[in-house]
Amino acid sequence: MAEPLLQTCALTKSFGAIHAVQNVTIDFMPGEIHAIIGPNGAGKTTLINLLSGDLEPTAGEIMFRGVDITRSPVDRVSQMGIGRSYQKTNLFTDFTCLENCWLGAQSRLSSSFRFFRNALDYDEVRERAFRALELCGLTHRRHVAAGTISHGEQRQLEIGMMLATEPGLLLLDEPLAGMGTNEAAEIIKLLKMLSKDHTLILIEHDMDAVFAIADVLTVIVNGRVLETGTPHEIHNSATVREAYLGAPEEAI
Ligand SMILES: Nc1ncnc2c1ncn2[C@@H]1O[C@H](COP(=O)(O)OP(=O)(O)OP(=O)(O)O)[C@@H](O)[C@H]1O
Ligand SMILES: [Mg+2]
Repeated sequence: MAEPLLQTCALTKSFGAIHAVQNVTIDFMPGEIHAIIGPNGAGKTTLINLLSGDLEPTAGEIMFRGVDITRSPVDRVSQMGIGRSYQKTNLFTDFTCLENCWLGAQSRLSSSFRFFRNALDYDEVRERAFRALELCGLTHRRHVAAGTISHGEQRQLEIGMMLATEPGLLLLDEPLAGMGTNEAAEIIKLLKMLSKDHTLILIEHDMDAVFAIADVLTVIVNGRVLETGTPHEIHNSATVREAYLGAPEEAI
């Protein structure tokens, strides 16, 4: 059996008396779409913030490709190949779509490298930015300001900015938030396409989308893992139904 790409062991994050993430142990396998679901305030975003290095855990461990990254800062985590998108839109709205991806591509370079901006550096960043734009389906919007494109396209562009860092593992915090059906369908198509050569950790409230695309689901309630399993197992779990989905069959 393959080794996990990312592992958390007894991961814990407290904000004073609030225990946002408690004793969370999960294996994320390479090539899978692993969804994290749970009610509002369950600790999903906090967990992603720990994985991305945006937050330092109170206790526990995070291993990526067998390397301990528990206390690695966010730029180091990004350089190691973990990309993330945010729950709230996080773009440079006055910049063009290409420039946004360019910034993403540049952020992956170490700061000393960034200082010596030679031709090689420039070409590599340019190529990465174009590749990311192409992957997220926005090449035709490259010269348009990010603030003027549709909400769905903005979420696509955010995925593009993340792809410009050339990550192997994508952390996606509610990529379908606030979208209409057609826009959501575009993003789902994009995520499926990306899953062919990336590992995805996906937080999402849209249960139809989650159950359609995830290989594995982890249900988090009150900062703790309630259950991990296939969509079929989670769908049929009495524990999950009772604790999170609130009983009615049609809830999932
Ligand atoms: N920086 C912070 N300081 C204090 N408390 C926080 C902080 N960030 C999160 N929390 C608290 O931690 C708990 C988990 O929050 P988190 O944002 O991780 O939940 P979530 O599962 O992502 O919720 P949602 O589905 O609404 O996005 C909540 O009680 C929240 O108020
Ligand atoms: Mg959240």
